Amino acid sequence: MRALVTRAWPKGTQDRLAQVCEATFRDPDTAMTETEWMEAATRYDVILPTVSDSIPAGFYDAAKGKVRLLANYGVGYNHIDVAAAEAAGITVTNTPGVLTDCTADLAMGLLLAAARRLGEGERELRAGRWDGWRPTHLIGHKVAGATLGIIGFGRIGQAMAQRAHHGFGMKVVFQNRSRVAPELAAQYGATQLASVAEVAEVSDFLSLHCPGGADTRHLISTDIFAAMKPGAILINTARGDVVDEDALFAALNTGHLGGAGLDVYQGEPKLDPRFLKHENLVLAPHLGSATGGTRAAMGHRAIDNLEAFLKGDTPPDKIV
Ligand code: DGY
Repeated sequence: MRALVTRAWPKGTQDRLAQVCEATFRDPDTAMTETEWMEAATRYDVILPTVSDSIPAGFYDAAKGKVRLLANYGVGYNHIDVAAAEAAGITVTNTPGVLTDCTADLAMGLLLAAARRLGEGERELRAGRWDGWRPTHLIGHKVAGATLGIIGFGRIGQAMAQRAHHGFGMKVVFQNRSRVAPELAAQYGATQLASVAEVAEVSDFLSLHCPGGADTRHLISTDIFAAMKPGAILINTARGDVVDEDALFAALNTGHLGGAGLDVYQGEPKLDPRFLKHENLVLAPHLGSATGGTRAAMGHRAIDNLEAFLKGDTPPDKIV
């Protein structure tokens, strides 16, 4: 059983994987090229890709009959064409659950940083431009008691609600594709509304926690920015393409959008230069799950899926 790991993993998880199968740990730690993907399609039984991999459309056909499992290191799998994988007889798994807290922590951190203008303050201080305390200096938005709108009330959306409601006394409203049991929502003092626009209309902060992919592409569009309260702040730790970036910049240019805290970008890691022009953006480089324990847990979860697959069991996190 030959397995390919596309990017460097935490050492302990690489060591465990090496015990489980004949693993190739690709070096250098860069995104695989199209040529490498097409070669891998005929060489490996298992590929363990991750969320920053770009898998060429031709891979799935080429991999048919050879690659049996794509065990993704990461919860999001919008970079995998799940239908094409299924058609080629390739099982796909992901790593849910283990990065919930850290992603919600980062979303809350971005919310606080954007609300209280921490990025602007730090840049001012580091540049030697701080001229001391004054009553009108870098005035931000109060977080306690404000309304947080959550788009997508899965594990991470709920963890965000937990922090916001129980930690910061925020009111929480949310939109979710399916109906959430009122008893569950009540645990976070949260109310489900019918649409993204309705959530946007009443929220001081709007935080995105839905999956990426075709169904949510540009969900946050010109209409939604227009529906947001003047001065409201957007937080995105989900996927870059959930937000229409042209609409985001238009809303920033008019001043209708008060700011944003962003961890993910369309076409990342290439960053639209317009991001750097807006002081009221707090920009992180896709750090949601970036803690030692969580990154190790993600690797172990991917290996758990692989081991179950090798035993002939249904992997715990099987998508198709
Ligand atoms: C994931 O697993 O989908 C995250 O984006 C990685 O932090």
